[in-house]
Amino acid sequence: MSTHAKPVAVFDLVIFGGTGDLAMRKLLPAMFRRFLDEQIPAHSRIIGVAREEQAESDYRERVREALVKAIGKEATQAKVDAFLDLVSYRPLDATRDAGWDDFAELMGAVQDHVRVFYLSTSPRIFVDICERLRAHQLNGEGSRVVIEKPIGHDLASAREINDAVGAVFEENQIFRIDHYLGKETVQNLLALRFANVLLEPLWNAAHIDHVQITVAETVGVEQRGPYYDNAGALRDMVQNHLLQLLCMVAMEPPATLDPDAVRDEKLKVLHALQPIDAANAAQETVRGQYRAGAANGGAAPGYLQDLGADESSTETFVALKAQIRNWRWAGVPFYLRTGKRLPSRVSEIVMYFRDIPYSIFEAGSGSIAPNKLVLRLQPDEGVKLWLMAKSPGPGGLRLQSVPLDMSFAEAFGVQQPDAYERLLLDVVRGNPTLFMRRDEVEAAWRWIDPILAAWDAGRDTPRAYAAGTWGPSASVALIERDGRTWHDDDH
Ligand code: BG6
Repeated sequence: MSTHAKPVAVFDLVIFGGTGDLAMRKLLPAMFRRFLDEQIPAHSRIIGVAREEQAESDYRERVREALVKAIGKEATQAKVDAFLDLVSYRPLDATRDAGWDDFAELMGAVQDHVRVFYLSTSPRIFVDICERLRAHQLNGEGSRVVIEKPIGHDLASAREINDAVGAVFEENQIFRIDHYLGKETVQNLLALRFANVLLEPLWNAAHIDHVQITVAETVGVEQRGPYYDNAGALRDMVQNHLLQLLCMVAMEPPATLDPDAVRDEKLKVLHALQPIDAANAAQETVRGQYRAGAANGGAAPGYLQDLGADESSTETFVALKAQIRNWRWAGVPFYLRTGKRLPSRVSEIVMYFRDIPYSIFEAGSGSIAPNKLVLRLQPDEGVKLWLMAKSPGPGGLRLQSVPLDMSFAEAFGVQQPDAYERLLLDVVRGNPTLFMRRDEVEAAWRWIDPILAAWDAGRDTPRAYAAGTWGPSASVALIERDGRTWHDDDH
């Protein structure tokens, strides 16, 4: 075990949707990495569940392939074999009774295990699964349920899901996962802000000019067209990942790291967001949809081609300007943008500090760029603080903006773990700090719903952008109207 890995109790992890993309690409590889780090206690069980009838040996082979693909060389045959000993498979239809008695028996065979039920399925069957778990008394104290986004497609449907799951499990047994909260840099925000004295005195409207949060992807909608076309970037990314990042940046210092202390502070931020509705959506938001273009080193199809449809008014890009109505942040815009088929895969939070009040330097010394703190979530996790410095050599004082650069990989000499590794074990430990509480999810929808309504009412169709570009030009205009520009890597 790495010296930092804390052992967890023996557990059963049941993955509903055990043959799906998330299970194969993320959940099982995450568990395997924890296994390699000797953090998974012997006698724990990982049980894949899906509708499909297949032999356990076939399922294990699929898992083996997925691990080799995700992990590469480290997934040696011996290690994979040892891990697969923990893995089993049960065909089960959440909407029918058949097979559930056997499943309950399998679960009941070991009493003292923590039981984690991970619902990596369509939200349409969350309720069926929970009710059947209750009918077989699998919702008792040592049980926890993990639900994946999307938690609803608006406030009303999110409430229905929360009510239904809440009728079976207590709130402290429900883990609403937002994998962005498990990313190292996001957790590092807590350390940077609250384990240093330097930043917090400056972390407010007196010193911060504005904040930018970008989550850019190079991929298109891939195989998820039917889901994505019903969701769009606002629901898929902003309602959860980007708002959670905004909360982590903007929240007041919690008194402790107690799960509710942190989540209470995040909730206050969501409540303080200035509404965007029909009155201001046209000025404060931009929606885009990618067209064919040159991306990822080749010709990339447009969204409609990816979808195989003739028309769609779903956005694959959103930029918006959020404002937080409280003392700390009044007058400091938070510009958010996210999209698919953008030029590079990058997620970052950039804090722009205010201009110096007065320059003592001659005009020929070069312009003084405001300080900037860049928190890089991916790739190359790390923190860069851009400072003005004198460029070396004689010939007068020439000023230049240069970064103090901390790459986490270099500073700590380890590869950054995947978000799911941390989050899955937090569920086993019963620690919900990095999971969304019911009221947070609902508060986020309460802010998102009027934007969606304004778009609907305005029959707003997304603006076109070519694949491989930074979204529609209106996104540039959104920020440049305020005399600012989107952050461009490395200057
Ligand atoms: C998911 C979204 O929640 O996050 C996807 O549904 C998106 O559309 C993904 O691609 C991005 O996650 P990451 O960790 O690759 O940035």
